[in-house]
Amino acid sequence: MNDGSKAAGPATSDRVMCLSCHRAHATGWPHMTRWNNDGELIAVDGVWPGTDSPSSVASQAKYAQGRTVTETTVAYNGATMHYASYQRSLCNKCHAKD
Ligand code: HEC
Ligand code: HEC
Repeated sequence: MNDGSKAAGPATSDRVMCLSCHRAHATGWPHMTRWNNDGELIAVDGVWPGTDSPSSVASQAKYAQGRTVTETTVAYNGATMHYASYQRSLCNKCHAKD
């Protein structure tokens, strides 16, 4: 059910527009996207990936992409982890693949 809160997800009458995937001006990710589109996973082993992550999985180069945990966290607006342990790209949220 869509109650209008940020956690509600899209309703069938919602429209996709530039800011569904981008932010205005700048983001911490290539192409000014709201999330990292260069990797399949957003959350890895239950944490934000980073070169200095205590998780041996989340620190792998293909997930960390040269960023520290702090840099990844800030690129996600300093958000506390609220995804599943191996959250895939947010394209899948609307396309209902997860
Ligand atoms: C469904 C998600 C999505 C939507 C909606 C979307 N974009 Fe994008 N956009 C992306 C992705 C992903 C890339 C990176 C593509 C790549 O890797 O080549 C991108 C790349 C771009 C780039 C190139 C930036 C660069 O640094 O190379 C521009 C400019 C851009 N988008 C503008 C727009 C505009 C304007 C709109 C609305 C009319 C829009 N986008 C809507 C996902 C989206
Ligand atoms: C905010 C919700 C949302 C997000 C996020 C989103 N999509 Fe979509 N996407 C849609 C909707 C709705 C349509 C159907 C648009 C239409 O039919 O006019 C669509 C259509 C598409 C299509 C065309 C499918 C077809 O059969 O014609 C592709 C490909 C696609 N999206 C890829 C992506 C990718 C790649 C991403 C992530 C970068 C993404 N989408 C993120 C909602 C979204």
